[in-house]
Amino acid sequence: MRTQVVIIGGGPSGLLLGQLLYTKGIDTVVLERQTRAHVLGRIRAGVLEQGMVGLMAKAGIDARMKAEGHPHHGTLISYNDTLFRIDFKAHTGTQVMVYGQTEVTRDLYDARDAAGCRTAFEVEAVTIHDADRDRPYVTYRADGKTQRIDCDFIAGCDGFHGVSRAAIPETVRSEYEKIYPFGWLGILSETPPVADELIYANSDRGFALCSMRNPHLSRYYIQCSMADKPEDWSDDAFWTELKRRIPARYADSLVTGPSIEKSIAPLRSFVTEPMRWGRLFLCGDAAHIVPPTGAKGLNTAASDVHYLFEGLSRYYADGDDEGLRQYSEKALARVWKTERFSWWFSSIMHRFPDQSNFDLRMQHAELEFLRTNAAAQKAMAENYVGLPY
Ligand code: FAD
Ligand code: DHB
Repeated sequence: MRTQVVIIGGGPSGLLLGQLLYTKGIDTVVLERQTRAHVLGRIRAGVLEQGMVGLMAKAGIDARMKAEGHPHHGTLISYNDTLFRIDFKAHTGTQVMVYGQTEVTRDLYDARDAAGCRTAFEVEAVTIHDADRDRPYVTYRADGKTQRIDCDFIAGCDGFHGVSRAAIPETVRSEYEKIYPFGWLGILSETPPVADELIYANSDRGFALCSMRNPHLSRYYIQCSMADKPEDWSDDAFWTELKRRIPARYADSLVTGPSIEKSIAPLRSFVTEPMRWGRLFLCGDAAHIVPPTGAKGLNTAASDVHYLFEGLSRYYADGDDEGLRQYSEKALARVWKTERFSWWFSSIMHRFPDQSNFDLRMQHAELEFLRTNAAAQKAMAENYVGLPY
């Protein structure tokens, strides 16, 4: 088999890249380790930056998002009973879109099917060959047989635990990592959101986040110990703890109900450099991870897709490989800025096990400065709606 670009990983980065390339007539094959149902069953991000919204429009898959997504013009931040709002619209002239990653992925699979593009699910032993030569190829096992695809380029969109990053020799790679000493316990419930906008809450008992998918579906998170298991937390225990961490006026009006999903996510900051090796390009979680505070994971994957799409379209349009040569540098320049924002926002919102009383006062001072300073609010808003590509 032959294609122009093999895309390893059928998550949001791989699918979005595939759809954008399709609009330019560039042929791709997506190789996905899981079933489609498994990929669509994962509850993950919920907030889309303007850049991601624009890419979905460019890929021609934004009809349902425009009809069913919810633009948010600001967010609420609380620490104990103090509450303030960051007005994205006033500070940046733009907003974010609340539309779940599950829905984005569904729209992308539907579009891929409609376009007749090739996707192989439940593939095993995906292996990258000769990425540093002119004629790379990928092998994998499917239906008990080994398959081979020859290609011009390989896009490694296979997430943090994929094979693509490891295909770059260790002598070439530099990795940067910070592990946070806690996790996020998240639940999804068919209840109305507690507020019209998201609430990021810093409390003496730890962080909490009130988010949503639509007026009938809420997503809530609380900071928890990484030693906890989701089954340790009954729904009642979750709701009781959440109420203790958010301002009283919201705790009093919170509508609770059974959870329909409950999971614990670790918090990590991670970057690998470079994001290109020969004809292999890393995109999204394969190259970097952010802690979830501020909803940058999916959005940073999207900015990589943008740079890689620009590079590949230029190459196939007129043989100009300048965009591809600059891919790693351009993508990483933006990645490090979103790493900074996610690290900063995480650091001011959580309780850390070794926090001194000085550290607590610094957190408080950060939040007070943000609450009272227009320039700090503008910087926060610019980062939240998404830095320019
Ligand atoms: P992924 O979504 O990880 O997709 C990679 C795909 O590659 C997967 O489908 C995987 O099955 C496939 N794959 C892996 N290995 C192979 C292989 N060897 N061969 C073939 N296929 C392979 N971000 C936010 O902004 N907000 C959130 O609330 C949020 N919550 C999250 C919760 C969890 C539990 C996790 C793990 C992430 C969360 N994120 C969140 C981050 C966000 O979901 C990711 O940044 C986003 O999914 C990245 O997309 P991706 O396509 O790069 O990677
Ligand atoms: C969601 C997750 C986040 O990490 C965040 O900062 C905002 C929203 C969510 O899942 O809805």
